[in-house]
Amino acid sequence: MRLGLLTSGGDCPGLNAAIRAVVRRAERGYGFEVLGIEDAGRGLVERRAVPLTIAGLDHDGYDPYLSSGGTLLGSINRSTGYAECELHAGYRDLGLDALIAIGGDGSLAILHGQAQRGGWSMVGIPKTIDNDVALTDRAIGFESAVRTVAKAVADLRTTAVSHDRVLVLETMGRAAGHLALHGGMAGGADVILLPEIPFTVDGVMEAVERRRHMRGQAFALVVVAEGITPPAIDVDPSSPTAPRGPGETLAHALHTASKGTFEVRTTVLGHLQRGGSPTPSDVLLATSFGVHAVDLVAQGSFGRMVASRGPDTVIDVAIPDVVAAGSSPVRLDDPLVQVARSMGVYVGQD
Ligand code: F6P
Repeated sequence: MRLGLLTSGGDCPGLNAAIRAVVRRAERGYGFEVLGIEDAGRGLVERRAVPLTIAGLDHDGYDPYLSSGGTLLGSINRSTGYAECELHAGYRDLGLDALIAIGGDGSLAILHGQAQRGGWSMVGIPKTIDNDVALTDRAIGFESAVRTVAKAVADLRTTAVSHDRVLVLETMGRAAGHLALHGGMAGGADVILLPEIPFTVDGVMEAVERRRHMRGQAFALVVVAEGITPPAIDVDPSSPTAPRGPGETLAHALHTASKGTFEVRTTVLGHLQRGGSPTPSDVLLATSFGVHAVDLVAQGSFGRMVASRGPDTVIDVAIPDVVAAGSSPVRLDDPLVQVARSMGVYVGQD
């Protein structure tokens, strides 16, 4: 059995731990040969693949891939630009018997379609800091990005208090608010705005005022997911000083609504959320996912994606069901939304 392995889409902490687990389980458990394909689909077409072995990943006993960030295989998060038949030819020429693809919902949907049309045998492993892959509680990388957001909120607190400022932190997450919600709550934010829940500038102002009553000055920490619909503001968008992005736009709206009395600043956290090493829980998730994925290959269960249920249980689901369910948003009855409200955190309209 020659097993291909690739990482596709935006990187995140925990990918190397999953690669390591696949290689260990494949070699030790089944004697499979593993071929790491570089740069996702592009490497498949260009026949860029490296043999992955337990000894090769070990580096004199130092085991660097267990807890390193990024992906040792490289990745791309846009189209390869190659025709599908070229991908099929790559799969064939590399002599692959099966493929494990580590990707987000977009990558897994595309690769599954190609696998079906090309007759490949594929198993998927979900990863994304956005945590928006359907039918799994967690994707690799989410917990680590939550840690980064939570630390940023906590670090902003000291300077917000010193200067009595309203500090807005914009997180990633595409159209889903999981990262903002979890990171904001773990960091102690006063306001958390998500794409899934409508909010008003008045609602945010009230939350900031509540804070003011507690301390006498207007400081507050506002976490904004990049996918929110920003409030309308009266600024010429072609002006070089016009706010850019949802965080800056909200900051402008708050400054205006306070008649200039709130000092508001914005931080866009950006790709820091994808960097760094994984948390222990991400390493454990990635390791369990890697082992389960290889077991599926050994059983001949293809077209499946490994998935988590609760903290310790790994199951598998049909990739077509994941694709049909679409991107998974924060649900309005998400327990953490209710907890946030109970704690007096403004998360938009009830
Ligand atoms: O899907 C992961 C993600 O980090 C999103 O949260 C973000 O919107 C996007 O990728 C950023 O993509 P890029 O790395 O191309 O800027």
